[in-house]
Amino acid sequence: MSGVRDYLAWHELYDDPGSSLPRRLALVREVLHAELDARPGAVRVVSLCAGDGRDILGVLAERGDAARVSVTLVEVLPELVERARSAAADVAADVEVVAADAGCSETYVGLATVPADVVLLVGVLGNVSDADVTATVAAMPRLCASGATLVWSRGRSLEGADDFVTPVRKAFSAAGFAEVCLRSFDVEDDRTALGVVRFDGPPVPLGPREMWFTFVG
Ligand SMILES: C[S@@+](CC[C@H](N)C(=O)[O-])C[C@H]1O[C@@H](n2cnc3c(N)ncnc32)[C@H](O)[C@@H]1O
Repeated sequence: MSGVRDYLAWHELYDDPGSSLPRRLALVREVLHAELDARPGAVRVVSLCAGDGRDILGVLAERGDAARVSVTLVEVLPELVERARSAAADVAADVEVVAADAGCSETYVGLATVPADVVLLVGVLGNVSDADVTATVAAMPRLCASGATLVWSRGRSLEGADDFVTPVRKAFSAAGFAEVCLRSFDVEDDRTALGVVRFDGPPVPLGPREMWFTFVG
């Protein structure tokens, strides 16, 4: 994590109305509410690089049916892990906050939430190399139950490429995901894209230990 940005300071942008983050958060929450509405019974959610977990935890705090949801948040920064645990105490869902490397397949071994019905890959793909974007997307079927929904974002390009969203869409398609929707914001200077994809393939075992990504930005 050395050399990457200060993700505690980054979280403060959620309170900045001039930042794109509140817009993105509102959209992620909207998708999560719709997913929970559409899925009766038990729902398993996994969030990679979860930060303080305010997307799924914010949704669960607003719902009377949160007890049927189990969640694993994977986050590496201890302060954010603590914040997520504290927020999790206020929701009826079964929430586990795992302080571990979300980019390592081993982190997910033995989790009751894997394979998951809903996977959050938000705030990840814009912070890793192009090769890691490809490897990470290719690995996502291993976290997904058949019929799972995965939410991804790409807010910027580390390499400065103009179109950094098309390669992500192609990678999800190659990995067996169907695109449900791609949302962006009609706001100047906001290049955030939020994608929702669905995995209808057969379950894929986690397999041997692999590294999928390392943050470089
Ligand atoms: C851009 S933020 C996104 C946080 C959250 N998903 C959101 O959208 O609010 C990226 C987060 O990933 C965490 N992170 C970076 N590398 C990680 C890793 N290898 N494993 C787990 N968390 C990581 C950072 O500490 C930070 O909280």
